[in-house]
Amino acid sequence: MTSEAPGLDNHIESSSEEGVQIIRLNRPEKKNAITAQMYQAMADAIDEANSNDDVRCILFLGQPGAFSAGNDIVDFAKIAMSGGERGSLAVFEFLERIIIAKKPMVAGVDGLAIGVGTTMLLHCDYVAASSISTFHTPFVDLGLVPEAGSSLIAPRLMGHHRAFEMLAMGRKFSAADAIRAGFVNTVVESEGLETKATIVAKTIAAKPPRALEISRSLIRGDRTDILAQMRTEAELFKERLGSDEAKQAFMDFMAR
Ligand code: COA
Repeated sequence: MTSEAPGLDNHIESSSEEGVQIIRLNRPEKKNAITAQMYQAMADAIDEANSNDDVRCILFLGQPGAFSAGNDIVDFAKIAMSGGERGSLAVFEFLERIIIAKKPMVAGVDGLAIGVGTTMLLHCDYVAASSISTFHTPFVDLGLVPEAGSSLIAPRLMGHHRAFEMLAMGRKFSAADAIRAGFVNTVVESEGLETKATIVAKTIAAKPPRALEISRSLIRGDRTDILAQMRTEAELFKERLGSDEAKQAFMDFMAR
């Protein structure tokens, strides 16, 4: 059975199928760059999945060739021009949701995964990627700092040197690099990507739910330190949004 959730931002589609809540980014004309409204719609869809016993797994999908180009830079530029941000930002509300999400999360990535399009994958339990996928976190080049707790999770996962290469130097990782780094489980051709990711999500959804919940919680461990790091990063990130380095980078992007 498929059910559509009405009222969500139309750049985010949310539907459920055989125990899987599918959250699809749907802004292909902007390579799935994520606006504040889209973060809010995704956070709402996660809340809905958490509170619905029929949902056993969350699946994130994008568009052919673009999982996500990361945060909408025009949104960032508006904040930068007004001198940075002191209040909360939708991106961080969304990131908190995926850090504490109760249901297992799977992602199917085809093509571009930039910024948060990569860092959110560090919180997923299973990631399938197509062979053309690239993972790029150009935070420093944008005058920014890593987010989503990635400055803690990435060095733990792949070691300091590779984490530095990815998060500080902004080197683009290929699908093969991502497998070696440990945040992608499997690589398939683009044509089979969504089928693969959906089969994995439905397989997880069919497991005995309580045993799975306990096991996942044991495997993920205590997330307090990750949440704390994410909040520290968020304060620094908001400060950096008002910096001259960030303003220049956003203006350069918009002037291309
Ligand atoms: N924010 C806002 N708009 C974005 C965007 C982003 N992060 N990424 C892409 N877009 C827009 C482009 O401005 C363009 O809009 P237009 O058609 O109105 O001009 C459209 O999406 C298509 O992008 P384009 O740059 O023409 O495609 P491309 O294939 O040449 O390059 C990218 C795609 C994603 C590599 C390039 O757009 C890019 O580097 N984007 C910025 C990624 C980024 O730094 N994200 C933030 C991380 S924190």
